[in-house]
Amino acid sequence: MNDKELFLKSREAAKNSYAPFSNFNVGAALLAKSGTVYTGVNVENSSLGGTICAERTAFTKAISEGEREFDAIAISGNGGEAWPCGICRQFMYEFAPDLIVITGDDEEHLDKMTLRELLPHGFKL
Ligand code: THU
Repeated sequence: MNDKELFLKSREAAKNSYAPFSNFNVGAALLAKSGTVYTGVNVENSSLGGTICAERTAFTKAISEGEREFDAIAISGNGGEAWPCGICRQFMYEFAPDLIVITGDDEEHLDKMTLRELLPHGFKL
């Protein structure tokens, strides 16, 4: 699974995004070390604060299926690049500080950074 393939899966997933409040549709595709890809979307809520981002949806699906090791996550939004928010950076750091994070305007223009670069000195008990 290369970066482009993973990104395209995130874009396909974004079609199921539930974002009636922001209209910012986000999709994520998380590659576990097992080779399985778990997708996720942002799921907004009328309370607004109850909203969950696409990255945390993907991680929660994977963790609840027993996965614990991850290689990469691709994220796509409908407004160009979609780098993970601060809450998601911390959430993902719990499981995969060396995760490769991939995003881009489209599959021909991808950017990537490690989670350690995105969250220096991340917190972990
Ligand atoms: N969102 C994500 O799903 N992932 C991010 O990394 C940034 C933000 C969602 C949350 C909310 O539904 C919408 O984008 C606007 O913040």
